[in-house]
Amino acid sequence: MDFEIVNLNKSHIDGIVKLEQTCFSSPWTREGIEEELSNPQAHFLAAESGEVLGYIGVQEIAGEAYITNIAVLPQYRRNGIAEALLNAAAGGAKERGCAFITLEVRVSNLPAIALYEKCGFEPAGRRKNFYANPAEDALIYTKFFEVQNENTCN
Ligand code: COA
Repeated sequence: MDFEIVNLNKSHIDGIVKLEQTCFSSPWTREGIEEELSNPQAHFLAAESGEVLGYIGVQEIAGEAYITNIAVLPQYRRNGIAEALLNAAAGGAKERGCAFITLEVRVSNLPAIALYEKCGFEPAGRRKNFYANPAEDALIYTKFFEVQNENTCN
């Protein structure tokens, strides 16, 4: 299906609120999303085709990129939207000089785990009882970027 990956702006907020409420048991609030949009360390991308089909949020701090959210509306899943969002977010983090991109995922979230493995993320640990509502462990998945310049300064 046709869709475009674009930087998130205020016009997407209603769509993001809908996605959060549809996809998560503890959704971000509108206020939380608006606040994140003005955070200079946060980078958001949306997949759109008339409406917002999916989105991803990444926080980049001290050369480390952390995926805070990724979701696609149920009726548009299995069309490669999350894969396109994830690859675009990872590409952006790499271009901005991050060494790796990482995330947590519920141990029971097999679709998301399959997505991360397909996109080259590798298991990097487990956090006990990381999630509430319902309580569950998190798996950590990380993708390291190749070092582009082998020359180092001492
Ligand atoms: N079962 C098995 N593998 C799946 C899958 C499923 N239900 N959904 C995605 N995958 C894997 C497959 O390897 C797929 O490649 P393929 O279609 O060539 O087999 C690959 O991921 C890419 O799938 P894609 O179509 O890009 O994913 P999507 O747009 O359907 O979105 C999620 C995937 C996880 C973002 C979506 O299911 C979602 O929004 N879930 C609810 C929110 C959520 O759990 N977010 C993750 C929080 S950590």
